[in-house]
Amino acid sequence: MQKQLRIGIVGVGNRGACLARNVLDSGLATVVGGMDAFPEQARKFMQYHKLDFPLSTSRDALLADRLLDGVIVATPDDCHAADACAALRAGKAVFCEKPMAISIEDCDAMLRTQSETGGALRIGFNLRFHPMIRAMREIVQAGELGRLTAVWVRHFVGHGGNFYFQDWHSLKERANSLLLQKATHDFDVIHFVSGRFTRRVVALGGRAYYGGDRPNDLTCPACDERFTCPEAMLDSDNYRRQCAFRKEIDIEDNEMVMMEMEDGILANYSQCQFTPDYHRSYVFIGTQGRLETFMTQHRRGGWQREDRLEVLYRDLRPAKTYHFPAVNAAEGHGGADPLMVRDWLRCVQTGETDRDNPIAGRQSVAVGCLAARSLRGGNAWEKLPRLPAT
Ligand SMILES: NC(=O)c1ccc[n+]([C@@H]2O[C@H](COP(=O)([O-])OP(=O)(O)OC[C@H]3O[C@@H](n4cnc5c(N)ncnc54)[C@H](O)[C@@H]3O)[C@@H](O)[C@H]2O)c1
Repeated sequence: MQKQLRIGIVGVGNRGACLARNVLDSGLATVVGGMDAFPEQARKFMQYHKLDFPLSTSRDALLADRLLDGVIVATPDDCHAADACAALRAGKAVFCEKPMAISIEDCDAMLRTQSETGGALRIGFNLRFHPMIRAMREIVQAGELGRLTAVWVRHFVGHGGNFYFQDWHSLKERANSLLLQKATHDFDVIHFVSGRFTRRVVALGGRAYYGGDRPNDLTCPACDERFTCPEAMLDSDNYRRQCAFRKEIDIEDNEMVMMEMEDGILANYSQCQFTPDYHRSYVFIGTQGRLETFMTQHRRGGWQREDRLEVLYRDLRPAKTYHFPAVNAAEGHGGADPLMVRDWLRCVQTGETDRDNPIAGRQSVAVGCLAARSLRGGNAWEKLPRLPAT
């Protein structure tokens, strides 16, 4: 029987606590400790997820535990590079949340550290474990659509206010752009399904709804407009309660990206943070057919639970429809989170290292960083830089 792994969590916030729960539920490991810069807040998440492990404010103290096998990094995006590199240097297997980092330089530093230490680094691309995304990849890579030529992705980010504009996510210095924080998943899905990386990008975008002239220290409970504002968050359990219309907000909420990929594949990606509904829509077009997804979505009337994939053929073969089991929201990202965490733990147990995964993390960040630069700097084409020699 394999030994129980010992896992530590750096950043025990919303995500860190969810992942700690996934680790325990896997039966493969135990969580032996966590660190968080704000332990009071972290303890609330631990309580919610029924977690009980020692919590400190020192990352180095956590990493100094020689019996620790692996570390989950779930701090805000701007901390990932330093936290992951410190854990690799301490000899731990690292699971780092997406986006890998908020700059290409930081991603490259992580790749170099991985190479120098010989350590294992995994980026948290949970959508790769979603049954429908895996089916998309099988269909495309089996050549069912012929030669892949075009990819269209739309991301309707309902709840964009509370998720991204009421805390650190809304600042360039912490997140750079929602083309990293949010779209990193989709850029990775485009790369993962097509088996090709992006060569260059161009983008348009701006801030159309969030941000404004409200004081930076204004919170919803203290606001005179709390009973009329559509973004007001008065739920006392919700810690994201900064005003979504405050001055300091400097990231965009409406973006469109065009990508030229390897083998001449053309892709486009649009995301908007203030749609009434929440879902993604993927279309992959080849010379002989196309596939389209219809994903579980949150609409005004509630959840519409359906994951369906349709494949149409040019030669008039009957279309194929694939249905996927209804999503259980409690299982995290359509059941992808527990599968992803189990897979990571299995690799920590066997010592398996997936070197392609962090490279994919870097390429997805590179698309997001360069698209953000393009939309902020006159909409010029931006070419992805070479991967670092490692
Ligand atoms: N894969 C996914 O689907 C998914 C979903 C949600 C979040 N995430 C990622 O997880 C990460 C955390 O997101 P979240 O929603 O949990 O944010 P959060 O704000 O809820 O949690 C971040 C935690 O880190 C702590 N923290 C802040 N600065 C720190 C520092 N310097 N050192 C140590 N701890 C620090 C905060 O106190 C907080 O507890 C982000 O990178 C986000 O992109 C991924």
